[in-house]
Amino acid sequence: MSLPRVALSDQSPAFIACDALIVGIAPGPDGSVEISGDAFGPDHKRQLGSQASTLSLATSMDDAHVLPAPDGVEATKVILVGLGSDSPTPDTLRHAAGVAVRTAGKNAHIAIALPSAGPQSDQAIVEGALLGGYRVTAKKKPSTDPEWETLTVVGATDPAAIHTGLSTAQAVAFVRDLVNTPPNELYPESFSQRVADALAGVPVSIEVFNEDQLAEGGFGGLLGVGGGSARPPRLVALRYQPEQALGHIALIGKGITFDSGGLSLKPPSSMVGMKYDMTGAATVAGVILAAATLGSPVAITAWLCLAENMPSGTAQRPGDVITIRGGTTVEVLNTDAEGRLVLADGLQAASEESPDLLIDIATLTGAARIALGERYAGLMGHEAARAVVAESAQRAGELVWPMPLPDELRTGLKSDVADIANVATGSTLGGMLVAGLFLEEFVGTTGEGDDQRPIPWAHLDIAGPASNSSSPWGYTPKGPTGALTRSLIELVRGLDAEGIARLRQ
Ligand code: BES
Ligand code: MN
Ligand code: ZN
Repeated sequence: MSLPRVALSDQSPAFIACDALIVGIAPGPDGSVEISGDAFGPDHKRQLGSQASTLSLATSMDDAHVLPAPDGVEATKVILVGLGSDSPTPDTLRHAAGVAVRTAGKNAHIAIALPSAGPQSDQAIVEGALLGGYRVTAKKKPSTDPEWETLTVVGATDPAAIHTGLSTAQAVAFVRDLVNTPPNELYPESFSQRVADALAGVPVSIEVFNEDQLAEGGFGGLLGVGGGSARPPRLVALRYQPEQALGHIALIGKGITFDSGGLSLKPPSSMVGMKYDMTGAATVAGVILAAATLGSPVAITAWLCLAENMPSGTAQRPGDVITIRGGTTVEVLNTDAEGRLVLADGLQAASEESPDLLIDIATLTGAARIALGERYAGLMGHEAARAVVAESAQRAGELVWPMPLPDELRTGLKSDVADIANVATGSTLGGMLVAGLFLEEFVGTTGEGDDQRPIPWAHLDIAGPASNSSSPWGYTPKGPTGALTRSLIELVRGLDAEGIARLRQ
């Protein structure tokens, strides 16, 4: 979708001629309802508050009500959104803004007057409103619904925070748009083209490895997985290099544009939704887009591991042994465990540049959904790297949960004929963790001699939160969510010299 123009206003919201005006409500004394914040003058505030009290409107976080605008308020309608009884935080404001915009429906001009408490709240309100208002660019007959043209943020004080919120929401919308694209249109080559188009004019360089270059470079994971498809794989390296970078972060995304399972074919019902299997790659592209637009103190390389996993006469077979870049051999016992194979190439290529931090992100295992449901991402890897990701997710208001990489499960990946097998045969124990243990094998080292140690690495399994299969909630629509995009933007923008030093210890 295209996002609306975002404007700031310090007028009283009563005087903004818009289609929908969003206002927060909270419980007042004796069962009454109060209008939150001071954007309105006392008269309007009292008038709206008494209307809400008379109607006994619910004020919890997910409640929103559409009312005709009272006399003296120029909007067409007013959306009263619950903020709960605690004083609002950026997270609750982001959530409420999303709920309110969804409740408002289709409008050309929405004004939002939630009680902001500074730049972080300003940013959160913009993010919540824009993400809650996200619409799929659907292939449907033309509709007469109005386009959303303007979002007016009332009472926000910090234009830079508004800009950050807008660029962040743009990145998330870009991820959702890519993931929504049907897999007959989105395949490795068209994916890399879409990314190149989105990055035009942004200070990010783009390098695309085609199948010949992948063969030359020894990228056996991408070639093995992509070998069954008529549409060959691609590896895309996106680079953002600020002057005097404090450090270098590598992001690696799983980009399976469709996961049929390959010869280890999925049953039909499990195949639905497998166009989402490129979410990790879309996410790292969105992150570098926002980071380069907004500025980040660290250099970033985003590796997009793009392949289509299809069964055919040229597909890899269960039993094949492939060689990942760098020389590690893998016995492919299940062609449906393909994400780890393309990521192995990506982790290896990223490691060769000795970044300060490696983060991979992938819709990697059904087991992650079983363990954590659809809202939490599984976070694995080294402790210091995990801490940086967890803190960033906390700041962004996204949900991650730490998961172990138990040594004992590594044994299951032993192969008689190769360095490692891609699955533990005959056991589904700890499927999310086994995938993490497999990836760990491809994390490179840094330093020489006695000083040699693994590059700090974190692994995010987003098979759960990448998509929302139930009803919309907060600022999250049904379908692709763009989850963790904001956390990683927060991470690359928030790292300082001290944070880098902590990783290098
Ligand atoms: N893309 C899937 C994981 C997935 C499943 C994501 C459901 C979202 C929803 C992945 O490639 C896969 O097929 N994993 C297998 C691994 C198994 C063969 C070890 C799985 O989870 O069943
Ligand atoms: Mn698979
Ligand atoms: Zn997959």
